[in-house]
Amino acid sequence: MIEIKDVSKVYRTKRKEVTGVDRVNLTINDGEIFGIVGYSGAGKSSLLRCINLLEQPTSGEILVDGQNLMQLTGKNLRQARLKIGMIFQHFYLIEQKTVGENIEFALKAANVSKEQRNDRIEALLKMVGLENKRDVFPGQLSGGQKQRVGIARALANDPKVLLCDEATSALDPTTTTAILKLLKKINRELGITIVLITHEMEVVKEICDRMAIMQEGRVVEDGSVYDIFANPHNPLTQEFIGSVVSFDIPDEIMQTFKGTIVKVLFKGDVAGQGIISDMLQQFEVRGNFLHGTIEYIQERPLGIFIMELIGEEAHIHRAISYIESRGVSVEVQ
Ligand SMILES: Nc1ncnc2c1ncn2[C@@H]1O[C@H](COP(=O)(O)OP(=O)(O)OP(=O)(O)O)[C@@H](O)[C@H]1O
Ligand SMILES: [Mg+2]
Repeated sequence: MIEIKDVSKVYRTKRKEVTGVDRVNLTINDGEIFGIVGYSGAGKSSLLRCINLLEQPTSGEILVDGQNLMQLTGKNLRQARLKIGMIFQHFYLIEQKTVGENIEFALKAANVSKEQRNDRIEALLKMVGLENKRDVFPGQLSGGQKQRVGIARALANDPKVLLCDEATSALDPTTTTAILKLLKKINRELGITIVLITHEMEVVKEICDRMAIMQEGRVVEDGSVYDIFANPHNPLTQEFIGSVVSFDIPDEIMQTFKGTIVKVLFKGDVAGQGIISDMLQQFEVRGNFLHGTIEYIQERPLGIFIMELIGEEAHIHRAISYIESRGVSVEVQ
């Protein structure tokens, strides 16, 4: 478990102070994939780099498995940091070394013996699907393949945690999907906790279990990705969700509707149980679907529909109470 307790990072330059991270509290559980989202300058990289002390927090504490990293020194600190791997948007491979040598470099740093290194390199390349690229140089690889090498290198020391700073931002959508699949595989098969930064909600929706949204150094909202998609509270969160799931209906069209406009939310297996048709049959209400989608977040359906309900007010009230009683949430717009 990673505990970020009241962490701030203030950068002091000659002229001024910039607060990169502002009193952040977060807990990241073992084995989860945790996403950190925010616009440029929100403090995502600063916070991520505080987790492995690439950046020394100005105040607060970082605890990994109950161990306060900021109290460690020398060998103990190096040991603790080896258990936290990291990958980057621009890969940072050593261009003069082959793929195999890039990985070996990390193994040497962790004092893995020469006899063991060969097998480890083979196993790591297999894990990331680059078995036949051991002897090529990074310059001969595509962006996606370079990131796979970055991942293999980050896994060299058997980390418990993998930090990913915009790991897919330099990649096209198809390659992004492939790398996200690989990260998920690593998470599930090796049990590695992943913390990833992105400015794309699609990425979060695809693989994260929980998430935090950052703005001006602060975490403005955090929780399970599913719950946040179902019910975002903060305006910035709503904006990010809107980039993936949008229900904008043009004003001119909105004005033509005379009925009660409701937003209906189906969570999990209630989606598609015919609740709406039951409601329309049981109460003297007519319904029109104006907008809607079913999103699958971590294979769990989330149905969001905008409907117009037409009928007497009392009937509409009863109809809404009925669907609410069946576990569907309804918001009158
Ligand atoms: N080394 C530094 N010296 C001074 N200021 C810094 C330094 N690193 C980051 N900052 C400032 O801290 C704030 C947060 O930066 P950070 O790089 O963490 O944001 P980010 O969310 O990762 O942005 P991006 O999406 O562009 O990568 C910014 O205002 C930035 O200018
Ligand atoms: Mg950044």
